[in-house]
Amino acid sequence: MPPQVPADVSSGKMDIPLIHYSKNMSLMENSPEIIKALGLFKQYGDVTAIDNVSLSVGKGELFGLLGPNGSGKTTMIKMLTGQVRPTGGSATVLGLDVEKDPIGVRERVGIIPEQETPPSFLTATEYLDFVGDVRHIEDVQKKADWWFDFLDFSDKRDVLCKDLSRGTRQKLMFTQAFLHKPVLALIDEPLINFDPIMQHKVKDYLAEYVKAGNTIFISTHILQIAEEICTGFAILHKGKLLHTGTVALLKERDQHLDDFFLSLVQKDRHV
Ligand SMILES: Nc1ncnc2c1ncn2[C@@H]1O[C@H](COP(=O)(O)OP(=O)(O)OP(=O)(O)O)[C@@H](O)[C@H]1O
Ligand SMILES: [Mg+2]
Repeated sequence: MPPQVPADVSSGKMDIPLIHYSKNMSLMENSPEIIKALGLFKQYGDVTAIDNVSLSVGKGELFGLLGPNGSGKTTMIKMLTGQVRPTGGSATVLGLDVEKDPIGVRERVGIIPEQETPPSFLTATEYLDFVGDVRHIEDVQKKADWWFDFLDFSDKRDVLCKDLSRGTRQKLMFTQAFLHKPVLALIDEPLINFDPIMQHKVKDYLAEYVKAGNTIFISTHILQIAEEICTGFAILHKGKLLHTGTVALLKERDQHLDDFFLSLVQKDRHV
């Protein structure tokens, strides 16, 4: 029997646990269209969190999902990772339909959820061992050691997760998402709790990760970093897609992402 996901890993907020055991890993990772959303909707009661959003992300992209608070970024990531069901529309991730095969999607991708934290009563090492078991990762201890060293938290390896600082818990969540070297990672505001040194380090890691042919879908409010590392980006506002574009095109026009973002959102607020 596969180990069960502890309550802390899969809080009541999520419909479906984050990581799953699987023997069958037949892959569709070489599809050039790694993420494709077509007319996605998500309704929470009276709130339309996502309103007819279509977008596509190609292999090797570092795609930034931007938007003010409450614009629907987390909802979008949750739908693309099969954690919540769309109310309308459809989406494929690595060629898999997120509604029909949410488990298949989660087996193949790395996820940093917005709010999840590692389980309180496991140590950092125990948590990574657990992730290694669930994901059938070989030499997990060696790989974990690399991450402890890289993110500079080796001294916390035997500390219970509940006693870790917020930034260190985030280091652990970052580690669990990338431990199995997923071809696609969907990461929801992964940088915000990091100090500037760590932000710099992780930013470089992400940029290198996509250069190696992997794909990353990141939601962030840190527009300076998004401008530095993202290839493509989308701007959401009140659940609607205001814009999709490339950073290269902005640079060609001598525009900065933060100015572009502000003017677009402010204009939309006055519509
Ligand atoms: N489980 C839920 N039940 C009801 N409403 C929800 C739920 N989750 C999100 N919402 C609503 O959906 C909208 C989009 O929320 P979401 O968390 O996706 O935004 P966000 O862009 O990630 O915001 P932030 O930048 O603050 O993280 C908001 O109006 C939010 O209140
Ligand atoms: Mg969010």
